[in-house]
Amino acid sequence: MQLKIQKTILLLVAVIISLTLNAKEGMYLPMLLKKINASDMQAMGMRITAEEIYSVNQASLKDAIVHFGGGCTAELVSEKGLLLTNHHCGYRSIQKHSTIEHDYLTDGFWAKSLEEELPNDGLTATILQRMEDVTAQVLAGIKPEMDEKERQELMDKNIKKLTQTDDNSKFHLVEIKAFYYGNQYILMESIVFYDVRLVGSPPSNIGKFGGDTDNWMWPRHTGDFSVFRIYADKDNNPADYSKENTPYKPKKHLKISLQGYQPEDFTMVFGYPGTTQEYLPSAAIQTIVEVVNPFKIDLRRQKLDIMAEQMDKDPKIRIQYSAKYAGVANGWKKWIGENRGIKRLNTIQNKRIEEKEFALWARDHGYGDLIQELNTLYEQLRPYELAASYFFEAGYYQDIIRFAYSFQTVAKFSGKKEIDQEKFQLAVKSLKGSIKGFYKDFDIDVEKNLLNATISAYTKFPETTIPIPSTIAPLKSKNQEEIDEWIDKMFSKSIFADEAKLANFIENYSSGKFKTIQKDPVYQLALSYYQNYFDHIMNPLLNYQSQIDVLMRKYMQAQIEINAGQYLFPDANSTLRVSYGKVENYEPRDGVIYNYFTTLEGIIEKENPEIYDYVVEEKLKQLYISKDYGRYADADGSMHTCFIASNHTSGGNSGSPVLNAEGHLIGLNFDRNWEGTMSDLDYDPNQCRNITVDIRYCLFIIDKFAGAQHLIEEMDIID
Ligand code: ARG
Ligand code: ASP
Repeated sequence: MQLKIQKTILLLVAVIISLTLNAKEGMYLPMLLKKINASDMQAMGMRITAEEIYSVNQASLKDAIVHFGGGCTAELVSEKGLLLTNHHCGYRSIQKHSTIEHDYLTDGFWAKSLEEELPNDGLTATILQRMEDVTAQVLAGIKPEMDEKERQELMDKNIKKLTQTDDNSKFHLVEIKAFYYGNQYILMESIVFYDVRLVGSPPSNIGKFGGDTDNWMWPRHTGDFSVFRIYADKDNNPADYSKENTPYKPKKHLKISLQGYQPEDFTMVFGYPGTTQEYLPSAAIQTIVEVVNPFKIDLRRQKLDIMAEQMDKDPKIRIQYSAKYAGVANGWKKWIGENRGIKRLNTIQNKRIEEKEFALWARDHGYGDLIQELNTLYEQLRPYELAASYFFEAGYYQDIIRFAYSFQTVAKFSGKKEIDQEKFQLAVKSLKGSIKGFYKDFDIDVEKNLLNATISAYTKFPETTIPIPSTIAPLKSKNQEEIDEWIDKMFSKSIFADEAKLANFIENYSSGKFKTIQKDPVYQLALSYYQNYFDHIMNPLLNYQSQIDVLMRKYMQAQIEINAGQYLFPDANSTLRVSYGKVENYEPRDGVIYNYFTTLEGIIEKENPEIYDYVVEEKLKQLYISKDYGRYADADGSMHTCFIASNHTSGGNSGSPVLNAEGHLIGLNFDRNWEGTMSDLDYDPNQCRNITVDIRYCLFIIDKFAGAQHLIEEMDIID
């Protein structure tokens, strides 16, 4: 520690500490709660111990937390592997089981017995067994004078050694994750279940009430939950799907409280936040909010309009595109909120001021011109980041492009004298398997319109030094009709326009037929998109990124050093975290206060039979009229639907249990408020709230609305 600290440094320390001291900001490592947070949490009202939350010696809450499908969180709530997560987390699975005849999206689905529960190919449930700091082992032998390549090679070797176990099966996951941009490494050991079945889902007008209109907003009335079950083999171990599997018996499941909450009550969220970037320098934030977000927001708005128009006209298209639409809309709206929040907080300006102070400190502490170099690199990276966004938003995310490109796995055998038959047959088989699923959710007219929008956007890529894909370069000066003609012509000559033709073609595929694919105009379009990315974008991107990685590691190290004594939480990286805060209202604008909870009353207020997102089921209305809320009513007599609290959450936290001071389940986290979506970059305790669906509303729907009392009986409910 420096003995003589300059005034500026003191100032800087004060700024940073005031930003991070707030107990409500941060997503913490369960294994460090005891050391870092427990006393703070208890001071805020928590009545359980850190050991009860995370322990490797005894069953603890962590044994009930599930990484659901890799992108969401779920929690075990019964001895028979019953899982709760969000409706939007189960959405893909529900959608995949839906057809016009069995429209589970619209009508909901409730298995009456174990036999009726529906398997979901590809869906996984991962449960963490333990985490361990392995920084010293990962960095063993690393010397300051080593160059990055040497350093990385040695680290890779160390990591390989550390992750090797007796059981290297897909059911047992051992991974090492980097924290603080590579200043800390933590080993995560988990078990992975592959037999996860759909048990129940409310209809979309409950599970997705308010739809994409209310998404990212408070006040909210969404019953965003669905029910799944983990199955295990006869020894209670993870297994692939099998009829013989039986419900998994977990080490721990959550108890559910019907007590509700009061303002200022302690809450915590236990789950898997995906990515936050709280420590980025100003130029990086600038790239996100001034360059990349505006482009993505604009193009996605166009895509949404195109899909919405056709979905409104045709119920089949509504089902086909519902999940895709939700995905596009979700990002679109989040980035709008993020941009507003960053502007409101003045984040870029504030970071610049902090960086000036940092620069002074850095020179005296062996960090040289670190921050200037870092910002310069981020500026140089900027056009490539934008180009990558063009490739992803206008290319990769366009389903037909990605699908056509997948045929590259067989086309690449072309011209080869000797073909590895095994590999070739495997590739053919995988394509065969993908055709049906792809066309189930494909409508050629929608796709053509989307393609028109994305091609038009792509041809307007502003950067002159990075070329756009060669196939669409000639369309630069063309108008919409001309692009339409071009697209029509392309599909008229393409095998991808016709599912039956394509299926037949691949059914009888042999290596002699490479040319049909290679010459296919849709395939060529896809190929040119990817080729353009590989040739002109990917390498510079990786190159700048790897230089940035080195500097970010040092910058993070410096930020930790400046804050000596003050724990900085690590950015989210899809590892299990705990965040905590309080049930709190907030003031979105001058003179306006948003209450901390909503009720069924609000659903009735929002009802509009003309608007898809605001249709209210007759049965729900009846329950409202008769006030038949049973034991799920709040002490105030009303049916609470959602509530907000100041827990720091991010994408991936959806489905996470929201727990009270006792560690009992009081709701399922599913969203954030629009005023607070910048929290992935800059957290504001005054404005950032996580949105939770009240567990009592979920149980009310299961019990009173769906009549699935057998599920209620399975759960551990405390009145
Ligand atoms: N905004 C929430 C999250 O980021 C929920 C998204 C799903 N809901 C929707 N209407 N698209 O994932
Ligand atoms: N809705 C998000 C999710 O799906 C949660 C969030 O971003 O707040 O994980």
